[in-house]
Amino acid sequence: MHHTTLPSALESGVPAIDTLHENFLAALGGLSSAPDTDFADRYQDFVRQAEVAFRIEEDWMEQLDLPVIKSHREQHARVLGALHHVHSRIQDGDLAIGREVVKRLLPRWFVLHISTMDAALASAILGAGRRSAVFSCPL
Ligand SMILES: [Fe+2]
Repeated sequence: MHHTTLPSALESGVPAIDTLHENFLAALGGLSSAPDTDFADRYQDFVRQAEVAFRIEEDWMEQLDLPVIKSHREQHARVLGALHHVHSRIQDGDLAIGREVVKRLLPRWFVLHISTMDAALASAILGAGRRSAVFSCPL
């Protein structure tokens, strides 16, 4: 698994969450520099990784019984729906839309998401105090 540095302004204070975010950023960076011949396969790998990362966060929210889980899960589902839609366009040969999503749209979505939804999750984990010891990144 690749790791990359998360800008300090985006650190959540919860190492397990920051690890997920670093992995996401690294995967996004790798995908944006992938050659056209590998792009479709790498994109699919990226979407799978995003699915796993979102599921991990949702598991944490379930453990904490957070009311915000519904809207947070909905945001994950929406972006995954969009990513799957774009995947079918890529498979039809439209690499340009895939690259646009990877270079511009996803980084913007990611920064917004982690500074709102994921920041709220981090606060809840920190608020759980000692119990937060059970929240570790399984990746
Ligand atoms: Fe999230």
